[in-house]
Amino acid sequence: MSQAAHAVPSERHDANTGAVIRITTVAAFGGLLFGYDSAVINGAVSSIESHFDVGPGPLGFAVAAALLGAAVGAFFGSRIADRTGRILIMKIAALLFLASAIGCGLANDITTLIIFRVIGGIGVGVASVIAPAYIAEVSPAHLRGRLGSLQQMGIVLGIFLSLLIDALLAHWAGGAANELWLGLEAWRWMFLVMAIPAVMYGVGAFTIPESPRYLVSRGRDDEARSVLTSIHGDQVAEERVARIRETINKEHTPRFGDLRGSLGGLKPIVWVGIGLAALQQFVGINVIFYYSNVLWESVGFSESDSFTISVLTSVTNVLVTIVAIFLVDKVGRRPLLLIGSTGMAASLATLAIIFATANKVMVDGQLTPELGPVAGPVALIAANLFVIFFGVSWGPLMWVLLGEMFPNRIRGAALAVAGAVQWIANWAVTVSFPALSNYSLGVAYGIYAFFAVVSLIFTIKMVSETKGVELEDMHD
Ligand code: GLC
Repeated sequence: MSQAAHAVPSERHDANTGAVIRITTVAAFGGLLFGYDSAVINGAVSSIESHFDVGPGPLGFAVAAALLGAAVGAFFGSRIADRTGRILIMKIAALLFLASAIGCGLANDITTLIIFRVIGGIGVGVASVIAPAYIAEVSPAHLRGRLGSLQQMGIVLGIFLSLLIDALLAHWAGGAANELWLGLEAWRWMFLVMAIPAVMYGVGAFTIPESPRYLVSRGRDDEARSVLTSIHGDQVAEERVARIRETINKEHTPRFGDLRGSLGGLKPIVWVGIGLAALQQFVGINVIFYYSNVLWESVGFSESDSFTISVLTSVTNVLVTIVAIFLVDKVGRRPLLLIGSTGMAASLATLAIIFATANKVMVDGQLTPELGPVAGPVALIAANLFVIFFGVSWGPLMWVLLGEMFPNRIRGAALAVAGAVQWIANWAVTVSFPALSNYSLGVAYGIYAFFAVVSLIFTIKMVSETKGVELEDMHD
């Protein structure tokens, strides 16, 4: 599966980089909401439990249900975007985020709160697939990796902001998220704040053009030409519309049947998408983000040290995404994935060994590893190296690749499947971690290290380089 680089030289000259950065940034705002929404619950969870006088069960259920809602959102969002366009779907996602922000913030009972968490989850799923597709479809090939990585930038900034805002609000409310600030409990503000980026995303969606690939698929070639002209200039636009037209039949509405192929019933490229999506989650990245306070506290760090560690890890994640943005269109996707997998395997294996060999002590009736003065800092360094290797490779690149590697004809349907798999894999890791870590943290990290090794082999055998290749030259 080798794809030759086909960068059109004139495109480099003509690309209106400022315009394309602006429109892709709007789409990447969906990533910010995705990151904020998935992490915000961390700071609110214990206050919600005490406010509604419920145990951890219902909120654990809400977290799991929101992730499955995201799978549903990714699956249907991408399919609907093939019929109605990319922009309408962004507006719908913005409305879902807005409804979720207000609904969770003002909820008067736990059931209402759970329902609105799931609605937000559906929005997260929709935004997660529409950003890669839209960004890939409007970007010049030589910048596509960078612009696609803006979505990950949004995600990691969203995670970082949620940590910061949760902490600030709790602080303003006098130190606890269940105290009042401006007449409402701080935890309610944590959700309500999300209304601001949701409105910005929705309003932004009115200011950006429809995807030229979608327009051609609907026979709206003139509109596609004018969008491409504003991005690439006349000459390239004319030629590109013709090339897109060759790859899409406007009489044929895309459907799941288009994914059928010789390998286990599917086209090989669809399996590559599914593999990338599942492996990105099976290396356990979200265990670090969703459970980091609990993890570091359980192995002997104080509560405030654990919070500081979470903030530092989140900042590391933002910084390393900047590095990825610089590298992705220079060195290419495959080398980054290979380096990332190798580094993740080594750092995860280190964590597994440290946790497995540490002394175990009884904490709350649970045998827990106690890290000494050497093992503690080594574990911290290994966990941050893991975040660095993930953040420079699989974090942004899985999304970039899902947006760009499928041929135009099947992009929507293939992204629907791979996107849903990504969220189901995220759900599987998130719900299994508490039981797995109670059993043994060493085993938990051993499993993630194993999947990092699988991700290396998978990249070597299955992933082709897409750097600089036009979307019209992607094959299945
Ligand atoms: C990627 C993952 C997401 C994770 C994030 C962390 O975007 O898809 O699940 O939370 O990276 O950096």
